[in-house]
Amino acid sequence: MPLRLLYCRAGFEGECAQEVTALGAGACDFTRDSGFVVAHAATNATTPLWRDLIFARQCLPVFAHAQAMPRNDRLTPIMAALAQRGETYAQVWTEAPDSDAGKALAPLCKSLGNALVGAMKKARLLDVAASRRLHAFFPQGDEVYLCAADPESCAPWPQGIPRLKFPREAPSRSTLKLEEAFLTLLDDNERTRWLTAGMSAVDLGAAPGGWTYQLVRRSIRVAAIDNGPMDRALMDSGLVTHRREDGFRYRPQKIVDWLVCDMVEQPRRVAELIAHWLQKGWCRRAIFNLKLPMKRRFDEAQQCLARVRAVAGTVRAKQLYHDREEITVFAASTGVRQRP
Ligand SMILES: C[S@@+](CC[C@H](N)C(=O)[O-])C[C@H]1O[C@@H](n2cnc3c(N)ncnc32)[C@H](O)[C@@H]1O
Repeated sequence: MPLRLLYCRAGFEGECAQEVTALGAGACDFTRDSGFVVAHAATNATTPLWRDLIFARQCLPVFAHAQAMPRNDRLTPIMAALAQRGETYAQVWTEAPDSDAGKALAPLCKSLGNALVGAMKKARLLDVAASRRLHAFFPQGDEVYLCAADPESCAPWPQGIPRLKFPREAPSRSTLKLEEAFLTLLDDNERTRWLTAGMSAVDLGAAPGGWTYQLVRRSIRVAAIDNGPMDRALMDSGLVTHRREDGFRYRPQKIVDWLVCDMVEQPRRVAELIAHWLQKGWCRRAIFNLKLPMKRRFDEAQQCLARVRAVAGTVRAKQLYHDREEITVFAASTGVRQRP
């Protein structure tokens, strides 16, 4: 039975498994807090695309799984599996889960990665023109999953984590959440077309301005809605209007290109608010956070997304690396508008 390997946030293995199973992509095995899930797919099942999954940071088809490898020679069983498959790869990534146990494996991944590249070069299994990337994933020191990934359909970052640098002048670390959302939920073409100078945005729950900062750095004008204070330098940009109002009551004067929302509120209330904006056509696109409850997180996410899908043309959702107990959602209007 084909195996699929999914990376996720440690503690969210259950939600990741629920999602994969609900999509008909197989029954899952996982250990809580391990940071990964293994799905046993039907022979003819397609591999879900990483972009389509909410709780998975990566989704890979497995072609070999080795356990109880000798700790003084892991290379021999790995090279034997590669020789048996006989495929060449453009790149090799050696990875471990994003978990406490996985962090301890970082030195092993580094040294084994170097040794593996050397051995694969010698065996002529590395070829820059090859169409796939090899992922060697170590859940523990003596166990490996080998996966052949099509880079077009998989997350383009090791461990499925975009390593973003915190911009010194940004007013809060939340800024990385919106930056990651732009990278993960939009493609290159959409980022070029939809994040351009002169556009307009509303930021609900904006203070102190981490999300507003991401818009302002792209020369987008922002109405920042929050009773809390906004960062002074951001206000000095001349692109921000700060309104001390309730985000649930605020209405835009004109249709805006973007609505972003990071208010800490019940997810259904936020989903209802965003659905209202999209239905009225007050914004063209939205990115918002849904803070998930402690229990039934998958079901809650599904219900909120269903509410937004009922009125939106496109909806994409992801638990980002910078998200904790929450998911981030992109939604685009169907194009029907009413005056605010
Ligand atoms: C997580 S913080 C936002 C951080 C911000 N996105 C950033 O990057 O700096 C949540 C904000 O939502 C605001 N907030 C919560 N409920 C609100 C409401 N009903 N209307 C407006 N703002 C609200 C809070 O005052 C708080 O500043």
